[in-house]
Amino acid sequence: MNKDRNLDQNFWNERYLLNETGWDLGQISPPLKAYIDQLSDKNLRVLIPGCGNSYEAEYLLEHGFTDITVIDIAPALVDRLKSKFRANQNIKIILGDFFTHKAEYDLVLEQTFFCALNPELRKSYVEAMSGLLARDGKLAGVLFNREFETQGPPFGGTDTEYLALFGDGFKFKIFEPCYNSFSKRADSELFIILEKK
Ligand SMILES: C[S@@+](CC[C@H](N)C(=O)[O-])C[C@H]1O[C@@H](n2cnc3c(N)ncnc32)[C@H](O)[C@@H]1O
Repeated sequence: MNKDRNLDQNFWNERYLLNETGWDLGQISPPLKAYIDQLSDKNLRVLIPGCGNSYEAEYLLEHGFTDITVIDIAPALVDRLKSKFRANQNIKIILGDFFTHKAEYDLVLEQTFFCALNPELRKSYVEAMSGLLARDGKLAGVLFNREFETQGPPFGGTDTEYLALFGDGFKFKIFEPCYNSFSKRADSELFIILEKK
């Protein structure tokens, strides 16, 4: 797929309508699960952008977290999520664009959203993330550790690029090879915890 292809709402919505969701693990991403398991404050304001089928949100709800927001641009997916999480007061499900979303969060979870975006949007992603996080708020999750030979999405990246992108606005609390990736992503991810400066 060409990098210039319009990765807009229609593109993503069609992926869900046609069931072309090869990124979907069918379960919570293991590194995200391990990260969530060591969180003690269940009232953290958590955002999951580009949430897809939201296994991470489901896990947070099952473990008593009370303030979860998921946002995705694909209406067909969001309809499904609204029905899946119907009547649960602890989750807000937003049909919308991450780049125009306005709110404040303590924690944002990253799981194959950054890599799904046109790489030209990476600076905007960092700015938007900074705008959404409270002071000392954290962005935690996984990023690919390499470029791919095939055209994205997913679009890969390198540690050098990430250090340059996030370096001004974030402190790198953890930025290391991921030891517990989902099997088919083994050795291809970095685990990150970036704290807003
Ligand atoms: C590769 S999928 C990953 C979904 C999910 N995080 C997962 O790991 O299964 C990327 C997701 O980002 C959503 N998306 C793309 N651009 C977006 C945007 N600007 N704002 C919100 N969601 C967006 C797509 O609809 C899609 O659900």
